[in-house]
Amino acid sequence: MTKKESGITNHDLHVNTEIFEIRSYLNSTEKDSLLYDEKGFDKRIAVIDFMEFYVIDRIETLLQKTDQPGELILLKYSAQKVKSELEEIDVNLFQKLQARIRTGGSTGKEFKNLVNEYINFNLEDNEHQEEPEYDNLDVFINGLSPFQTMPEQTKDLEPEMVYYQKTPARIVFELVEKAHFLKEDVFFDLGSGLGQVAILVNLLAEITVKGIEFEPAFCNYARDCAAELNLPNVTFINVDARKADYSEGTVFFMFTPFRGEILQEVLAVLRQESLLRKIKIITYGPCTAQVALQSWLHSAAPEDGNIYKLDIFTSL
Ligand SMILES: C[S@@+](CC[C@H](N)C(=O)[O-])C[C@H]1O[C@@H](n2cnc3c(N)ncnc32)[C@H](O)[C@@H]1O
Repeated sequence: MTKKESGITNHDLHVNTEIFEIRSYLNSTEKDSLLYDEKGFDKRIAVIDFMEFYVIDRIETLLQKTDQPGELILLKYSAQKVKSELEEIDVNLFQKLQARIRTGGSTGKEFKNLVNEYINFNLEDNEHQEEPEYDNLDVFINGLSPFQTMPEQTKDLEPEMVYYQKTPARIVFELVEKAHFLKEDVFFDLGSGLGQVAILVNLLAEITVKGIEFEPAFCNYARDCAAELNLPNVTFINVDARKADYSEGTVFFMFTPFRGEILQEVLAVLRQESLLRKIKIITYGPCTAQVALQSWLHSAAPEDGNIYKLDIFTSL
């Protein structure tokens, strides 16, 4: 019997093949025990993404093209169920990890080891990034935040002020590795946004950290996160970086929070601090070029024109 005689069209065959493939994928996903183990975080992220942006999308497209939706509706229900089961594992995982941080049970090397249990990352991959690059380590670190909804900006920035963008988490891990912090160091993040850099530095290096942020809503969010995670040595100050009190600071980080005159003014304030004690300034992004021109600062690494890498400057 030909296809024509059986009444099966090319379109039906195509839909059936797609249904078969999706069903096979769902079956293999449900049987993959690593995905249902909390340690399978890395793999889970990929599957949740694939489920949302490929499988469910694909079923929806097929649903629009068929007049016999029964099986596709069941398949969509199965895909959504698998996706929400996997998401639930991560919700529970992060609640558990937040509780562990709250008790002070995971700082310094222990915190780094804890992250390594869930995410494989190699800091050497940080070299030669042409723009800030985010990956599963960011998804993991975002998950540790007790609040997931970013607050609305309430104040207009001046033209030389730079809008909020997060430093990639892997860059913060690299910063802690390269900064060689002493336990008495006090770290400042200038333009601390939602507070992630300051909080991570505190967790990884076990030193006192302070965030300086112009936007009150970001500052409040960061304070709430630090309070919820029970991190007493993390403080956020809602002030323009030109007017902040840096008298306790020894290491200052800038992911290009401002440019031009504002940057020059802040550097002049930091220079005054450097007359009282040696300080380090760590930069990431385009502000590095202006910082590199300061005659009172020295960098051990030669300028190589690579904007998105860390540079460490020490006062003379
Ligand atoms: C590129 S983001 C960096 C955020 C954060 N340091 C991080 O890496 O995740 C720049 C931040 O600087 C803040 N900012 C801009 N101008 C500022 C100023 N004059 N004083 C304090 N914060 C400022 C912005 O509101 C924004 O949150």
